[in-house]
Amino acid sequence: MRLMNSLSPIVLPLLYWYSFHKRDLAWRVNISPYKTWVSEIMLQQTRVETVKDYFARFMRRLPTIFDLATIEEDELLKLWEGLGYYNRVRNMQKMARIVVEKYHGEIPANYDELIQLPGIGDYTAGAILSITYQKKIPCVDGNVLRVITRVLGSYEDIGNVKTKNRIKNLLQEILPDEVGDFNQSLMELGALVCLPNGEPLCATCPLCDLCVSHQNNLTEVIPVKTKKTPRKQEDCTVFLITCQGKIMLEKRDDKGLLASLYQLPNRPGILSEEQVIQEINKMGLTVHTLKKCSNQKHIFSHVEWNMVLYKVEVERENNGLFVSEEERIQNYPLPTAFEKLLK
Ligand code: ADE
Repeated sequence: MRLMNSLSPIVLPLLYWYSFHKRDLAWRVNISPYKTWVSEIMLQQTRVETVKDYFARFMRRLPTIFDLATIEEDELLKLWEGLGYYNRVRNMQKMARIVVEKYHGEIPANYDELIQLPGIGDYTAGAILSITYQKKIPCVDGNVLRVITRVLGSYEDIGNVKTKNRIKNLLQEILPDEVGDFNQSLMELGALVCLPNGEPLCATCPLCDLCVSHQNNLTEVIPVKTKKTPRKQEDCTVFLITCQGKIMLEKRDDKGLLASLYQLPNRPGILSEEQVIQEINKMGLTVHTLKKCSNQKHIFSHVEWNMVLYKVEVERENNGLFVSEEERIQNYPLPTAFEKLLK
C-alpha cells in the first residue's frame, strides 16, 4: 500500500471541487465573524439542513452581537429550543457580553484572545479565524478526521486526541492562502461525498485518485473509532397536568442538564397510579381524572431517559404555573424530550 507523506496534493483538487459544489448557505453570504460563530456553534449540534431555519430565525431576532448580549435568557433559550446542549447558547451570551464590554463588539481576530472566551474551543476558534479572518489555522471536526484518515489509509482511532493533533499538524503544513475555503471544503466533502453512514460516493470524489482507502477498498473499515461507554439509563414519570385547556409547567433548576428551561413536572423512577396521585396532592392540586399513556425514550449524549407519561386533569389551577398552548409556544422554552410527549 502506497502511503502519502504530505497532504499537499489534496489542496488544489479540493479548492476546485469546492468552488463548484459548495452549498448556498446563509452564513456563507456576506461573511462576518458573528455569523460564522453562530453557525458553527449551531452546526456542532446538528445537521446543516436543520440549522438553516434556526440560523435564519436567530439572525432575524439577533442581527448583531449587541442584541445577543442583551436578550432575556428565556427568549434566547426559546430561539435555541430543540437544538439541545443549551449551555452552548448560554455561553454564547456570556461571550457576547464580554466581547461588547472588552472589545467594543468586535470578536477578537487572534487565537490567544479568542480561546479565552466562554464556549470557544480549538475547533470554533479555528473556524472563526480561518473563515472570517483568513488566518492559517486548521479546523478539524469529525468530518475532517474521516476524510483525512481515509485519504491517508490511517487506522488511527479518530476518537483519540493524539490522532486529532497529528492531523492538525499535517494540515497546518499545507494550508493555502484561501484557508477559509480550504477548511470548509474538507468539511463539505465530509458532509456531501465522504459520508459517515453508508457508502461514500467515491466515484464523484475529487480525491479518489489520491485516496489510499478508496484504492485499497478500506472505506468500510476507516475511520476507526472505538465504541464509547454505553449511556446511563434513567427512568422517570412525567405528569401532563391540565386544567381547562392549560398545562402546568415548571422551571428547571439553573444547574445541570437542561438548566433553566421549562419542563413538565416529573419524578425519578416509574411511579404507580397511587404514587402519582400522592405526588400531585403534595403539589397542592387535586386530581380530577388520571390516565397512563405509553412510554417514550429520549436520548441525550450521555444519558437515556425512559419516560412514562400520566395525563392528569386537576380540579383547579390553585398552585403552579398553568399556561395556554399559545403562551407556551411563545414564551416557554421546552426541551425536545418534553415537547415530544406533548405531541
Ligand atoms: N460543518 C460545520 N461547519 C461547517 C462549515 N463551515 N461548512 C460545512 N460543514 C460544516
